[in-house]
Amino acid sequence: MNSRFISAALATAMIVAGASASAEIKPADVVWEDEIAIPMSLTGVPGDPARGAEVLSKRSLGNCVACHQNSAMPDVAFQGNVGPTFDGVGARWSEAELRGLVANAKRAFPGSMMPVFYNDSPADYIRPGDAYTAKAYNPETFSTLLTAQQIEDVVAYLVTLTEY
Ligand code: HEC
Repeated sequence: MNSRFISAALATAMIVAGASASAEIKPADVVWEDEIAIPMSLTGVPGDPARGAEVLSKRSLGNCVACHQNSAMPDVAFQGNVGPTFDGVGARWSEAELRGLVANAKRAFPGSMMPVFYNDSPADYIRPGDAYTAKAYNPETFSTLLTAQQIEDVVAYLVTLTEY
């Protein structure tokens, strides 16, 4: 492969990466409606329900099923009942409300045990890893528990859960 081709490919990759980064709404720039809902997509890229289901059930990702039962996933073991069941959640809440709940449930439910999945401030985080480090809050390295696209994927999955 010649070097001109490589640099052209690299430049293209950088443009693509830059475009997606700038389209993403940062936690601090999220526009809320009625304090609990987020009407606008965080990325502009439609969520993928299959990937959302993975985020929901994987311990290393959202691990939502640790607290929420979901009949649509009979194969997932150890589903919790700390929070309401996901059965019918897509009928109880609008897409905008679901986006708001997944991003920051403490807006709708102050003092909720549910982790804040999209917030760049450590203020109301439940994140054991950070609690045990002596490091000061650094906005450059601090990351949200889920990425903007993972939130969109989860919301795209939750809206499909309309049956009780
Ligand atoms: C540590 C437990 C916990 C985890 C983990 C958790 N939640 Fe929750 N969630 C709750 C609780 C508790 C509530 C009920 C609100 C309240 O009273 O705090 C709730 C409420 C909700 C609601 C509103 C449900 C309804 O029908 O009223 C949605 C939607 C939701 N959570 C989605 C999620 C998603 C998606 C994830 C994973 C990305 C998640 N939750 C992870 C505890 C949790």
